[in-house]
Amino acid sequence: MQGIGDIEVSRRGVMVAGVTSAALAAVPATGAPRPQGASEQSLVKVAIEINGKHRELEVDTRTTLLDALRENLRLTGTKKGCDHGQCGACTVIAGGKRINSCLSLAVMHDGDKITTIEGLGTPGDLHPMQAAFITHDGYQCGYCTPGQICSAVSVLAEIRAGIPSHVTADLTAAPAITNDEMRERMSGNICRCGAYSNILEAMTEVAGERA
Ligand code: FES
Ligand code: FES
Repeated sequence: MQGIGDIEVSRRGVMVAGVTSAALAAVPATGAPRPQGASEQSLVKVAIEINGKHRELEVDTRTTLLDALRENLRLTGTKKGCDHGQCGACTVIAGGKRINSCLSLAVMHDGDKITTIEGLGTPGDLHPMQAAFITHDGYQCGYCTPGQICSAVSVLAEIRAGIPSHVTADLTAAPAITNDEMRERMSGNICRCGAYSNILEAMTEVAGERA
């Protein structure tokens, strides 16, 4: 008979797979869907380095980076929540900075370097932030988690780079990694499950490890 402990282990196993969203699903960009009414004239070739790999794809000029990742490249770790820049589920790292991939066109990233959740770590070699999310239960359903983790990694980098936020009191001093700073900078990543406090604990652990 299955006990409570077994259920917990099972849930964690499933969630580890979700947190890492390993690059197993990455397949060549074939048979990519096109927007309704797309013509040959609206298709352009784009070359992007994604998770360290050179990828070439042909996309309609109206295709968002999010759709290019998910539909063309089958990198489905990056999630579509609102598709309007309001939830952060689609967060990826472009040129070292986090962006909402639903608000960015794929053609804008020709020649860029993009990191998605699949490129941060693997199940056998987790990024410290992925491992910390697991340790601190920084998720429940997991849908927002890839975006949360990409954002969390970038937030710590932004603070360390001295970039101020809305709650930075002294703009002449380097911002510190405080709860207020992290909460403010993570405010664009919505979690319907309300895992915010655990996400903060995960970020605090990683910040401490690297401080
Ligand atoms: S799907 Fe991009 S911000 Fe919600
Ligand atoms: S873990 Fe469910 S939406 Fe964040």
